[in-house]
Amino acid sequence: MAIPGYLLHLFLWAFLGLVTSSKAVTPTKVTDPSFSRKTFPAGFVFGTASSSYQYEGAAKEGGRGPSIWDTYTHKYPGKIADGSNGDVAIDSYHRYKEDVGIMKEMGLDAYRFSISWSRVLPNGKLNGGVNKEGVRYYNNLINELLANGIQPFVTLFHWDLPQALEDEYGGFLSPRIVDDFRDYANVCFKEFGDRVKHWITLNEPWSYSSGGYASGFLAPGRCSAWQKLNCTGGDSGTEPYLVGHYLLLAHAAAVKLYRQNYQATQKGIIGITLVSHWFVPFSNARHHKNAALRALDFMFGWFMDPITIGSYPHSMQSLVGGRLPKFNKEQSEMLKGSFDFLGLNYYTANYAAYAPTLSAGKPSYLTDARANLSTERHGIPIGQMAGSNWLYVYPRGIRDLLLYVKEKYNNPLIYITENGVDEVNNATLPLKEALIDNMRIDYHRAHLSFIQLAIKDAVDVKGYFAWSLLDNFEWMNGYTVRFGINFVDYKNGLKRYPKLSAHWFKDFLKH
Ligand SMILES: *[C@@H]1O[C@H](CO)[C@@H](O)[C@H](O)[C@H]1NC(C)=O
Ligand SMILES: *[C@@H]1O[C@H](CO)[C@@H](O)[C@H](O)[C@H]1NC(C)=O
Ligand SMILES: *[C@@H]1O[C@H](CO)[C@@H](O)[C@H](O)[C@H]1NC(C)=O
Repeated sequence: MAIPGYLLHLFLWAFLGLVTSSKAVTPTKVTDPSFSRKTFPAGFVFGTASSSYQYEGAAKEGGRGPSIWDTYTHKYPGKIADGSNGDVAIDSYHRYKEDVGIMKEMGLDAYRFSISWSRVLPNGKLNGGVNKEGVRYYNNLINELLANGIQPFVTLFHWDLPQALEDEYGGFLSPRIVDDFRDYANVCFKEFGDRVKHWITLNEPWSYSSGGYASGFLAPGRCSAWQKLNCTGGDSGTEPYLVGHYLLLAHAAAVKLYRQNYQATQKGIIGITLVSHWFVPFSNARHHKNAALRALDFMFGWFMDPITIGSYPHSMQSLVGGRLPKFNKEQSEMLKGSFDFLGLNYYTANYAAYAPTLSAGKPSYLTDARANLSTERHGIPIGQMAGSNWLYVYPRGIRDLLLYVKEKYNNPLIYITENGVDEVNNATLPLKEALIDNMRIDYHRAHLSFIQLAIKDAVDVKGYFAWSLLDNFEWMNGYTVRFGINFVDYKNGLKRYPKLSAHWFKDFLKH
């Protein structure tokens, strides 16, 4: 992919791929009694995570309506690395019992999955009717989990918006989404809330806004034409901020509903999952340190500030100006404190350097932060590159991020709702070798160690969900990368096999 000059400023997705991956394989002992769940506080939750479009398949079965990911993958297969889609995915719709069995075998405490909005409400709204078969599927999954001693952590929205709402009013570009999301959340609380004690309203609103509306790498694939990123329409200077705004208001509306109508009787808690990279200043120079703080604001503070203080970060207000929507007093009050816990997803870190005003001159979310993000410094990568070219392994970043959140946002209750690493899907690699994933064991062990250090510094982390239980459909990368702790054989009936890391987790959880 050719990179126009201005993209070097980008917020990102470092998709340059200039760095050659050096895969230093460290042999790892599976059994290591000095590092196990016993070294974590009692009650600390260990789980794995998934999402509906990436796992379920059965796209046209059981009364499910289409989502924007069905439309995007079918209309623009050229935008998915292998031209694939989630029509079948890894077929968890049919294999949920087998998959719960895998979790049970590993000794996991919890499973984070998402509900497909259009499986429950096929046209996105109540007036299109609740799909009984969809409700039954999630009841079956929840009951199967509980019967095996595994707690469900349920995400309401993991990017697969009902296509009907995209068609009717542009989905999250319109304030009309807020009522429809609240109605959908209401159905879920009513149907499942007797058994679900941890709700997550949204998964990574940053990815949905910036990926869907600024870079166009995710559905619905919108961005400004002048960026030459091959989008079919959009405005990267305004749309990501509108979408982020209505995501936040939808979140707050669902939390308010839960607290008013359900929490007292169902006794669960509700939160939101945000993603952030850690940003390392390019040097100790003040202008680079400030760039790193702005990068955090534009990725994390964008959503974290509104749900804690009821307004956007000052850096965003001053740099985005009139393109950034405002909350009125009532909205601000509704947002403030609208979470019982924070779900935090962490994968990687970037260097951040001060970037002057752009030569291109046109506004875009991708350049508004005035931070030049990169994955290397003086030719040296920030960490080992994984299967995805944006993912460089930087374990201590998770501790730095946790401490930053504790200090800046008044010590919230946190669950790490995603953390994980991928390898390239190598079609010629024999199965036996594909199951040897020492780099994944090293990744999880290192990140868990840094989480332990954060706990020693009084960060209130109560759980850890590895991404992901199984290999699955990785959005624009299709099936070309593998994030699973368990292997899925795409060529032989989607058969599942434990990788070495699955054995490592089992051992870690047993001791
Ligand atoms: C650009 O998008 C079209 C679909 O609109 C797709 O077929 C093509 O492969 C894309 N080009 C690149 C370079 O991604
Ligand atoms: C951005 O950072 C990269 C990598 O450090 C560097 O090569 C490039 O010159 C920087 N660009 C600007 C505009 O500062
Ligand atoms: C894929 O596996 C084969 C067989 O082990 C190996 O020779 C090749 O280098 C691998 N390719 C990549 C891209 O890792």
